[in-house]
Amino acid sequence: MTTTRTEKKRLLSGMKPTGGGRLHLGNLEGALRPWVQLQDQYEMFCFIADWHALTTEAGRAESIAEASRATALDYLSAGLDPEKCAIFRQSHVPQHAELYLLLGMMTPVSWLERVPTYKEQRELMAEYEGGGAVGVSYGFMGYPVLQAADILIYRAHAVPVGKDQAAHLELSREIARRFNHLYGVDMFPEPKALISEDTGVLPGLDADANGKVRKMSTSYANAINNSDTPDEITAKLKTAFTSPTKIKKTDPGTPEGCAVCQLRRVYDPAGYQTQWEECRSGARGCVQSKRETTEILIEALAPMRERRARYEADPAELDRILHNGAERAAAAAEDTLNLVRGVMKLV
Ligand code: TRP
Repeated sequence: MTTTRTEKKRLLSGMKPTGGGRLHLGNLEGALRPWVQLQDQYEMFCFIADWHALTTEAGRAESIAEASRATALDYLSAGLDPEKCAIFRQSHVPQHAELYLLLGMMTPVSWLERVPTYKEQRELMAEYEGGGAVGVSYGFMGYPVLQAADILIYRAHAVPVGKDQAAHLELSREIARRFNHLYGVDMFPEPKALISEDTGVLPGLDADANGKVRKMSTSYANAINNSDTPDEITAKLKTAFTSPTKIKKTDPGTPEGCAVCQLRRVYDPAGYQTQWEECRSGARGCVQSKRETTEILIEALAPMRERRARYEADPAELDRILHNGAERAAAAAEDTLNLVRGVMKLV
């Protein structure tokens, strides 16, 4: 039995619940907000890639449930609507694993060795405390195949992701093409990457070794988390990196290279230019800029804090949402898997 697909095109995306599963403003502006905007136009599936987190955090399995819930809370507080969009944990839809296994049979190892992030991550793994015992796991090498399965199991048309995922998406397309070709079918549409322009633009609150702002990232500990309270936001902005040459208020600042001015640009698109000009001319100091930007930020994030508080007050509701999301996803996934099993003569 196959369920009829709706008229809307299908979209799927997900994030790994690593580092405790808490997302930051870079994730919010680069990914979650675009998802929220897309959920009306598309049939959306937004999942939490908890198996993917295990490719680097297998030793931390005990925290995966908690981290997944934290990520789910971030999705919901950003405004993803569980009525419009299926929100679920990857591990709750085991169909992903079956397709992963089958796609693994037709994915050359040489393709996986070619993925640019592979080498990089190998080096990272060498440094990673929990990774020492395992090294680069078999599962880690299969990361892009699992990601392809995540996408293809829904026969998704497009995947909104950041630039860093472009290579993985390319591999998903190659795997889709290979399956279609090997079996002479038109099973999988080649999933298009919807790369959001804003991704990576939001800077962290610190500077790199060369005194330059760098992207906001949990691993740099320079992030404002979506779950930060107004007090935490205030404290973080107080110590944020600004223009290193602007010591006194009257010193000229360089807003392009200042974390606070960049935040101001994103969260105050109508008013930031005046602040930037006055920063440059020395009419406005960093203390004032920080105070104002803090207020703007706290205000801009108020709707998100309200939604978060509602969901936090009702953990059973979160469970229900994840359960329902998994059911909806599993129904769609099972449809695809039945077709795949048929084509591969596994029935
Ligand atoms: N690799 C993605 C990340 O690190 C997470 C992910 C897993 C994903 N499967 C996916 C993203 C499928 C989009 C589609 O963020």
